[in-house]
Amino acid sequence: MVLFLLLWQEIYKKGGRKFGFVNLAPLGCLPRTRILKPENKGECMEELTTLANKALSQLLETLEDQLNGFKYSNFDLFNSLIQRMNHPSKYGFKEGKAASCGTGPFRRFPNCGGKGAVKEYQLCDNASEYMYFDSAHPTERANKQFAELMWSGTPKVVAPYNLKVLFENV
Ligand SMILES: *[C@@H]1O[C@H](CO)[C@@H](O)[C@H](O)[C@H]1NC(C)=O
Repeated sequence: MVLFLLLWQEIYKKGGRKFGFVNLAPLGCLPRTRILKPENKGECMEELTTLANKALSQLLETLEDQLNGFKYSNFDLFNSLIQRMNHPSKYGFKEGKAASCGTGPFRRFPNCGGKGAVKEYQLCDNASEYMYFDSAHPTERANKQFAELMWSGTPKVVAPYNLKVLFENV
């Protein structure tokens, strides 16, 4: 968060005024982390990410008040991912939680291609049916949906403006 603040402050100083942000993915809910805690039974641990994302939204609101000309768009990647994990078919996916390639439960071990120590891995037939490509990264199809939401989504997922409005009308 600190590094990120230093970075965009530099850009603001150089004259940048319109910024696009993406909040944190549900870090306790990726195929990789989903089953880390046995007592967790494959459910997500999201308290910390939720807090961090709330802090980000509040910070951006404060900056908009305090910095002359600062305008932003904040894409809710967190809930966009959760929605697709919980209701994959609504978004055209067959599988929202497991990775398309890897090993183990939810294919959570990122050994796709078998180039590391563990040679054997599973690969699904069609990655476009999956939201997660590997243990931590969405598939191209999911990323395309996110890109479209960032550009022209409703205020429910990208606020206070989507990028199209931010760049063309604000
Ligand atoms: C893979 O899945 C996508 C999404 O369901 C579908 O549009 C596409 O036709 C499939 N490709 C193949 C080769 O079956």
